[in-house]
Amino acid sequence: MQVSCNNVTFVYDKKDPNHYDALKDINLEISKGEFVALVGKTGSGKSTLVQTLNALIKPTSGYTKVDYFIVTSDKKLFKEKMKELSEDEVKKNKKLYLLRKKVGLVFQFPEYQLFSVTVLKDVMFGPTNFNLTEEEAKKVSIEALKSVGIDESYFNKSPFELSGGEKRRVAIAGILASDPDILVLDEPTAGLDPDGKKEIMEVIKKVHEKGKTIILVTHDMDVVMNYAKKVVVLNDSKLVKITTPHELFDSDDIEKYSLEIPTLYKFKKLLVKKGYKKDLSNVYDFNSLIEVLGK
Ligand SMILES: Nc1ncnc2c1ncn2[C@@H]1O[C@H](COP(=O)(O)OP(=O)(O)OP(=O)(O)O)[C@@H](O)[C@H]1O
Ligand SMILES: [Mg+2]
Repeated sequence: MQVSCNNVTFVYDKKDPNHYDALKDINLEISKGEFVALVGKTGSGKSTLVQTLNALIKPTSGYTKVDYFIVTSDKKLFKEKMKELSEDEVKKNKKLYLLRKKVGLVFQFPEYQLFSVTVLKDVMFGPTNFNLTEEEAKKVSIEALKSVGIDESYFNKSPFELSGGEKRRVAIAGILASDPDILVLDEPTAGLDPDGKKEIMEVIKKVHEKGKTIILVTHDMDVVMNYAKKVVVLNDSKLVKITTPHELFDSDDIEKYSLEIPTLYKFKKLLVKKGYKKDLSNVYDFNSLIEVLGK
């Protein structure tokens, strides 16, 4: 298993008398090459959970494991887990940048990620830090920027002069440039127009086709339907479901967990309500719908 969350619980501020668990006893396994969507209503814990994957947040109890990297603030547990690893792996666990190179996390708010004086310098930060020469870093950064639709005219602009959608693209390029094994994106299509959304999702799809693992947080159920193979639902800090998009959207859980219904499934439900009799259970995209309707 490439990624696992093992009884992960997280409290933001233990000293706060009203503290509560932002994550409660989460168990989840993700294999190399999966395309997973993480969904759930606002405040359910999605961003908190993904930040445990590259140790920006360390579980208060339980642990997250990425390959041989163990992430936890439970010191006793960490020591115990180190006993299961080789000497080399234990050494690597002390080098956080190795985990950050493996797990590329694109933040929900790109402003948190961008800081350099120019767009190109910003994207080059990751690859330069991960030991590429200036020249190599520049080459991979330019490729990454072009892949997300940012052309040369932007390279010397300040990232802070850009529109929300452009900032998001630059933030994604900044992570792609480091070529992580696991790409984690927290609402990558928020604030993008329909063309921009499609463009970014196609970039992510291509990265997935190269064999990388994708973990994507989103409120956009059309994105889940069109791209993800597995969907994980969080609700009130707990993991409540691991399923496929098709199974989720055909079930009643969608309302239970306050999720949006994709347009296609809305239409399917409407057809049934209006008395349409043919079997729609195998309809999972517009092509399969047309096939049934056309019969
Ligand atoms: N830095 C923080 N300090 C204290 N509490 C926080 C912090 N960040 C998040 N929380 C709380 O933790 C809970 C989970 O938040 P999280 O940001 O993980 O939710 P989310 O599922 O990503 O929501 P959204 O869909 O709105 O992005 C919420 O109750 C939130 O208020
Ligand atoms: Mg969030």
